[in-house]
Amino acid sequence: MSKPKQDWTPGSWQGHVAVQQPDYPDGAALEGVLAKVRSYPPLVYVGEVENLKQKLAAAADGNAFVLQGGNCAERFIDCREETITNQLKILLAMSVILTYGVRRSIVKVGRLAGQYAKPRSQTTETVRGRCMPVYRGDSVNSFEPTAAARRLDPERLLLGYFHATATLNCIRGMIEGGFADLHHPYNWNVHSIERTQKWPEYKTTVDRIVDAIQFMEAFGGARSEMLGRIEFYTSHEGLLLGYEEAMTRKDPTSGRFYNVGAHTLWIGNRTRALTGAHVEYCRGIANPIGVKIGPDADPAEVAELAGILNPSGESGRLTLITRLGHDRVGELLPKLIRAVGKSKRRITWSCDPMHGNTTVVGGRKTRAFADILSELEQAFRLHRDAGTRLAGVHFELTGEDVTECLGGAVNLSANDLERKYDTYCDPQLNYSQSLEMAFLIAQRLR
Ligand code: PEP
Ligand code: CO
Repeated sequence: MSKPKQDWTPGSWQGHVAVQQPDYPDGAALEGVLAKVRSYPPLVYVGEVENLKQKLAAAADGNAFVLQGGNCAERFIDCREETITNQLKILLAMSVILTYGVRRSIVKVGRLAGQYAKPRSQTTETVRGRCMPVYRGDSVNSFEPTAAARRLDPERLLLGYFHATATLNCIRGMIEGGFADLHHPYNWNVHSIERTQKWPEYKTTVDRIVDAIQFMEAFGGARSEMLGRIEFYTSHEGLLLGYEEAMTRKDPTSGRFYNVGAHTLWIGNRTRALTGAHVEYCRGIANPIGVKIGPDADPAEVAELAGILNPSGESGRLTLITRLGHDRVGELLPKLIRAVGKSKRRITWSCDPMHGNTTVVGGRKTRAFADILSELEQAFRLHRDAGTRLAGVHFELTGEDVTECLGGAVNLSANDLERKYDTYCDPQLNYSQSLEMAFLIAQRLR
């Protein structure tokens, strides 16, 4: 286990360039909010965070596989029992299907209970002819397209804390109360896929899973982790550094600092500069850290980043999440693997097949199911060829029946995008597209 960092404090990031931070007009109001956040109780506990780190280490070694997923931007209005249940339901269904495919336990990490802040490429946008500040996530401003609603309001950080708390409380309650039975294929909502031509193919997998579960159930008391109590972890992009600093606590036992707002944070592709404030903050906390790696990343810099974030080579500490695009992954991933491999740092490799595959159709951001699957398939193969291992996947998805991504067995077309385009930010796989993605990964990995 690495030691507490000497030249680091929870606030040392303030001496570095911090991009993507809201420029709050009233510094005193922000400080008042952050003082409150500092006094609030943790959402997650050190023991849980260290457990996750061990699981991520196991995934790197090929003894587990990581499924990280959830909304692009989590919304305060989705802090409702039904939406949270649906989100958990799709993640658990995918995890059972993946367990069947990879024959390993699945480490379940939600992009939820705190995924309320977004990095943006532009500072303003034009909606219905009016120019206004961009939406930066529910913790920062409102999605409603008026200049007044888009005002930066530090009080929303408190709402972010409390919505995260309510969401996580709901999840913990459901899991304790045996909700994991939603793992059970009998509880999956397969109606949309059932009506497609591809269903007979997926039905074979479902039948085999049902068979395996019935076999285990026949042993009565020996209810496996799969059917009984599960472990579920939370994550969000560690973007708003004032808030993340305020959620940082010193563990009295180890003397190390932990972010207690989520089990793991990731650094976005826009905020991973070596000398930047996000890397400085994350280097000093003991949580597992993810870093998104886009096609613009310099492989040598990524290797250096691995050294900064994980100098002792602690296993499970660092997950590199590549999001290169289906058309670039073949060229770029081998270079990244070679560069990082040379540095001999232990890495948990994951693939986010969403963010490199965004296109615009009829004025709406979308992603094609086939492109998402293609990047994933290539990533699995490229790692195998390089002698490394793809240890996880990272999806933007929802348990709702939205129409944001194109294709899949349910065959959503450009005309469907209008119907239920709910996302406040990036297009997400819907319930049936997510289920299908899990079937396809499982089939390919068997
Ligand atoms: C995201 O995960 O929503 C995101 C903004 O990703 P990236 O940093 O990879 O662009
Ligand atoms: Co996104």
